[in-house]
Amino acid sequence: MLVYLNGQYSPVREATISALDRGFVFGDGVYEVWRVVRGQMFEAERHQARLERGLSELRIARPREATLDGITEIAERLLSENGLAGGEATLYVEITRGTAPRTHYFPAPGTTPTMLVMASAFTPSEARFTGTRVITQPDVRWLRCDLKTIQLLPNVLARQAATEAGASEAIFVRDGVITEGTHTTVFALIAGELRTHPANHLVLPGVTRDVALGLARDAGVRVREAAIRIDELPNATELFLSGTTTDVTPILRVDDRVIGDGVPGPVARALLERLLERMGLTTSALVSARN
Ligand SMILES: Cc1ncc(COP(=O)(O)O)c(C=O)c1O
Repeated sequence: MLVYLNGQYSPVREATISALDRGFVFGDGVYEVWRVVRGQMFEAERHQARLERGLSELRIARPREATLDGITEIAERLLSENGLAGGEATLYVEITRGTAPRTHYFPAPGTTPTMLVMASAFTPSEARFTGTRVITQPDVRWLRCDLKTIQLLPNVLARQAATEAGASEAIFVRDGVITEGTHTTVFALIAGELRTHPANHLVLPGVTRDVALGLARDAGVRVREAAIRIDELPNATELFLSGTTTDVTPILRVDDRVIGDGVPGPVARALLERLLERMGLTTSALVSARN
């Protein structure tokens, strides 16, 4: 696999970083993931805006090539040379504060950030159509969950707990409220109203979240950005996840509790269909591809 690292294209086994890279030493960096369909980066600007906001909040200088034009150019070469331009893929960009002697304070001005770009083949999960199971985990993360930093240890541990429990995702609960999943946004349909956590410091402002909210409003669904309490789950007729690699995936069970009728609900199905259409993936094409 060919990857891009600091201005060079090379096979991934030759793309190495210094042991003193601040991403390695401190987790001092941000990342972004785009969904790519037939060479087109989905919601390119929204992901780019989140990346730039993260860099700015962490005061990491944006590498010259980390503009949307620059990343698109790198993506085109990686997709084409890795044989990914025709199907579905993900594009991963990581930027760290760079390599410098290990100090907690920032390195000398002018230290060059490290920038890695990788394109990988992507196969979406069938669970988008059939539904999935999640577990709850305490949200022990810091209070800047709005930043997409590479510090993902609580997410890794929670997601591993899900795997060990036979579930596909863990959803975090803080002070009795569902914040989000380890790499997904959580939505609930309660009393006919679609709700998700407000986009504040406790959750990542999901790109798919924004798209799904827009699609729901367009479809005439009543929408409110308001926290979902874990004790409201018995009243939820639908619960679902959204995310760049999750699309819209109905949740059929949380821990031992069955949600609604235990089958994918109409709002999740409609939003999934509209989302896929927007990505240029019609449901009929998908149905024939699956048969
Ligand atoms: C913690 C967290 N929440 C939500 C999301 C969903 O965001 P998006 O729809 O932009 O993929 C992600 C995506 O990786 C995430 O890491």
